Amino acid sequence: MQHTAAKSDLRVATLARRSAMDPGARAAAARSLRDAVLAVPELEMAGTVAAYVSIGTEPDTRGLLLALWKRGTYVLLPRLRPDNDLDWASYEGPDSLVPGPHGLLEPSEPPRGPDAVSSADVVLVPALAVDRRGTRLGRGGGSYDRALARVGPAILTAALVYDGELVDALPAEPHDRHVRAAVTPSEGLVRLA
Ligand SMILES: Nc1ncnc2c1ncn2[C@@H]1O[C@H](COP(=O)(O)OP(=O)(O)O)[C@@H](O)[C@H]1O
Ligand SMILES: [Mg+2]
Repeated sequence: MQHTAAKSDLRVATLARRSAMDPGARAAAARSLRDAVLAVPELEMAGTVAAYVSIGTEPDTRGLLLALWKRGTYVLLPRLRPDNDLDWASYEGPDSLVPGPHGLLEPSEPPRGPDAVSSADVVLVPALAVDRRGTRLGRGGGSYDRALARVGPAILTAALVYDGELVDALPAEPHDRHVRAAVTPSEGLVRLA
């Protein structure tokens, strides 16, 4: 319970900080993240990348998705299931996204099942914060704890965050799945223990 409360406080604080950011600074951060991600060696080699469509004040991933798609990378995007697990479907360009639950934009292509994420060569995930051990703080649905449990040990899994959101330590519960890297606008790809 203690961890649950600590996580909840951190979520509120992070979302408030993101809201207070200047929109121009958010856009600049998104461009830096896009360029950093596109330069990651595993990603340049990847046939399939699992990614996500940003919402709200998250670093905007739409430019990144478009760049990957234009490069010929096969991009899988999540579709939120009623039980908060994630299904996956292919991204076929910006016009292939449709409104989903909670203000999400989701791929309109047929869903390929929750296990489809296992076929990705790189997995990019959202986070409110990540710590140096790879502990990830999400919005509280546990969706990515479930998705990341289906990803093999050799696959690069990376959370995209703003500067200041890669921190020394976050509260971790037994069900929390780690990411193997963070990407920040200033530091680029940071591999984590
Ligand atoms: N593998 C799982 N199967 C079912 N539910 C899970 C699983 N992992 C996490 N959850 C649920 O998600 C809830 C929120 O998890 P939490 O780690 O706090 O969220 P987030 O990872 O989004 O920050 C947990 O309390 C748990 O009920
Ligand atoms: Mg979690």
